[in-house]
Amino acid sequence: MKTMKKSISILLALLMLISCFGTASAADVTEQQWNDSWNAQDSEYLAAVTMFPGSDESERYVAWYSESADGYVELTSSKGTEKIAAAANAAPEGDYRLSALITGLTEGSYSYRCVSGDYTSETYEFTVENYDSFTALYVSDIHSSNNDESNANRLRDTNYNYNRMLEKAKEKALSKGTTLDLIVSGGDQAGEGLRCEFEGLSSPEMMKEYPFAIAVGNHDRKSVGYKYYTAVPNESETMNFKSYIGNDYWFRQGNALFLMLDSCNTSMPGHYLFMKKAVKENPDAKWIIAVMHHDMFGGREEWLYSENALLRLLWTPLFDEFGVDLCLYGHSHYYSVSNVIYDNKTVQGLAGASKIKNPEGTIYLSSGAINNLAPLLTDEGEIPPIGENAAFTFLEEEIIYNLLDFSGDSLTIKSYTVDSDEEFYSLEIEKTGNQGGHQLRNSKPLVKLLFWVTRIVNVINNIDMYNRYKEQGFDVSLKEGLIGS
Ligand SMILES: [Fe+2]
Repeated sequence: MKTMKKSISILLALLMLISCFGTASAADVTEQQWNDSWNAQDSEYLAAVTMFPGSDESERYVAWYSESADGYVELTSSKGTEKIAAAANAAPEGDYRLSALITGLTEGSYSYRCVSGDYTSETYEFTVENYDSFTALYVSDIHSSNNDESNANRLRDTNYNYNRMLEKAKEKALSKGTTLDLIVSGGDQAGEGLRCEFEGLSSPEMMKEYPFAIAVGNHDRKSVGYKYYTAVPNESETMNFKSYIGNDYWFRQGNALFLMLDSCNTSMPGHYLFMKKAVKENPDAKWIIAVMHHDMFGGREEWLYSENALLRLLWTPLFDEFGVDLCLYGHSHYYSVSNVIYDNKTVQGLAGASKIKNPEGTIYLSSGAINNLAPLLTDEGEIPPIGENAAFTFLEEEIIYNLLDFSGDSLTIKSYTVDSDEEFYSLEIEKTGNQGGHQLRNSKPLVKLLFWVTRIVNVINNIDMYNRYKEQGFDVSLKEGLIGS
């Protein structure tokens, strides 16, 4: 028996080695290959199979578009094959977005396919590891603009860039002796919020193999595609005034709690209650990572200064109360890392630092864009000014991605360019215990003070969205939001 176990272990090790070599040596998809497969858009492309995180690493959502409301995921592992029924969400186009929640995952290799009506997807593979340490890819602003059906090549090129970045990030993680475990996106996945953009977004193979943790951005809200595309765990139930498209939700990966926040929604009492509940339900989480769309400390875009100042006023007290270690965002399309911020101001400078122990507040990282790269000069020919609380900025016309390594007491951020393959930023955050140096302070009085203002602003925003969706022909109610969802 012992010998058999040993043989199986050796076999597994060999298989893993082969698969590792297979992954590492697999040639990246060239632009010509990408274009060829793009032009042959088939049922697989249109199904837009995507994997999303479940509540923790033992769960994954798989979602796809389907003509039929009945479907399931067929999951195969070393334990055998099982069928997991999918829930159906009626899409405005007359078909459905199905989502199946896979639960009970333990360390090992899995394969799955989606089945509904006449459709059976390709077989996709994924791995669940021990997440005592793990690596997350962070990106933001994947979108282009004007991605409508009449501009198919733009959508094709947008997602070629996205796929290129994904493959590069996966290879980079492997070259560092780790594997990629999670893709986190800080909003603006789509330029116009259209379903065709989310179909394009799903086209990279990696979108079916890694959980894709998605936050809503202002561009995503331009139409309703985001709402039907996503499947997320632990959604906020305390957001009385939702924005119509997104919502807050949380999930765990290893010792990190990810708070995925809808920063398009200014209803701070709702965000406050959501964060309070999420943190309370995860008392063992060492790292608290907030992910939202709007840049607050990077500067660069002068027209955003007043909005950023307002957002800082609203969000930073909550991050101080709940001890957020790192806030990931985008929106400006400019890369920047802030100093350590507490009480909405710099409390520890990070310029030139490669390591900090027990920071006394939150660090904010704005990633650059994947498409629509920010200009190096303003219209007046000036270098766009950085925010006064920024510690590091990077100003090049390059696609950027970030790898976050969570390991024991350390969270290491490394940022890279895709084309010049440069590691241009590295910061290790060491945190002893679960609180580190971040003193928690009560933000409730401020939330109460701003209660009506933030809700009124949100209602005004919603009326704007209501009119937009109505004009686009969607069935929408001012109070209930989108009908049929
Ligand atoms: Fe954007």
